[in-house]
This record gives sequence, structure tokens and C-alpha cells, in this order.
Amino acid sequence: MKSKMNKQAKTWIIKQIKLLAPKRKIQILDFASGNGSNSVHLARKNRIVTAIDKDSIKLVQYDHFEYINTICFDLETNQNWPLKEKYYDIIIVVNYLYRPKIKKLMNLLKNGGYLFYETFSVGNERYGSPKNPDFLLKDRELINLFSKKNEVLAYFNGKVIGEKISIKQRCLIKKTS
Ligand SMILES: C[S@@+](CC[C@H](N)C(=O)[O-])C[C@H]1O[C@@H](n2cnc3c(N)ncnc32)[C@H](O)[C@@H]1O
Repeated sequence: MKSKMNKQAKTWIIKQIKLLAPKRKIQILDFASGNGSNSVHLARKNRIVTAIDKDSIKLVQYDHFEYINTICFDLETNQNWPLKEKYYDIIIVVNYLYRPKIKKLMNLLKNGGYLFYETFSVGNERYGSPKNPDFLLKDRELINLFSKKNEVLAYFNGKVIGEKISIKQRCLIKKTS
């Protein structure tokens, strides 16, 4: 399981975190953390990770890691998220989109903190799932959502060739207000 999880961790995110936050004991939130590939990779580097997902079967795979605090929670109900505001240095969201609450992510970040967002975008329906527009970002959507009050440090929208071809959007945003 160890090598599989490491392989799947998002390389661009891991590299950027190393550059932006060389300090080891930072608080990272892995939002909709799934099988935990990013959480596990970061915890092995002594980062402190909160991993939240609604799927307890996935969370149980990595809740024994010393530096990972797992929270089983449905992020799409009317209940407040069980997450501290202005607490995290870094938030990672990979392959998850729920537009009604997306802007609230910024409330969880410390001022000066970073949001890494990567998920599928329009055009992906030609290659596979997801195809539902609710789960596909529009071109520049992350920039349009976050750039008014924050600084967009990196943006990509296009074809990603991995095991499968997909159309993805990636954005790195620094909280500035
Ligand atoms: C495609 S997986 C991505 C997992 C992980 N971020 C990654 O990149 O490997 C999407 C995850 O979102 C979680 N998810 C979907 N709806 C959710 C909800 N309402 N609340 C919490 N988690 C949810 C699923 O359980 C699943 O683990």
C-alpha cells in the first residue's frame, strides 16, 4: 500500500508545498481526502494533516498515521463543517467539487495560507467520468471565484495525459484578505 499511495500523490502539489512551506509542522487540510494519497505522503514528511471525507471505509485506511487526524463528515449538508476557521496553512482539494460551499474554503485558511485546487473541467466528458456539468469546472472558473480577494499564483486548464487522458483545472491561490 505504501508505494501505491506515494505514486498517486499529486506531484505538482507536493513539490509546491516543499517550496512554499519548508517549515515542517504546518497544518494541512486535505478536503474530500478519499484514499488519502496526498494525506499519507504529507504525513510521512511530518506535516500535520486533517483529512476529511464522508467515506469512513476510506478514512480507516490511514487514520492510524501519527500526523493524520481523520474526520468523517458529509461536507454537503446544512451542518457547519467541523473544521477550525483561519487555522490551516494549506488546503488541498483534488477531484472534488461542490459549488454551493466552495467559497467557504477560504475562511478555513490563515491569512497568507494557500489553497491548492485540482479537479476535472469542461471537455473531460469526451474522455470519461465525470461528465455531469456539476462536477466539471468551467474555463477560468477558479480564477473567477477566488481572484477578487486573493492572489492567484498558478493556473492551468487543459489536457492531462496520465494513465488516462483527462481535462483538468489546477489553481494555486494565496489568501490575501
Ligand atoms: C474522486 S475522490 C478524490 C479523493 C482524493 N481527494 C484524491 O484525490 O485521491 C472524491 C472524494 O470525495 C468524497 N466526497 C464526495 N462527496 C462528499 C461529501 N458530500 N462529503 C464529504 N466527502 C465527499 C468521496 O467520498 C471521495 O472520497
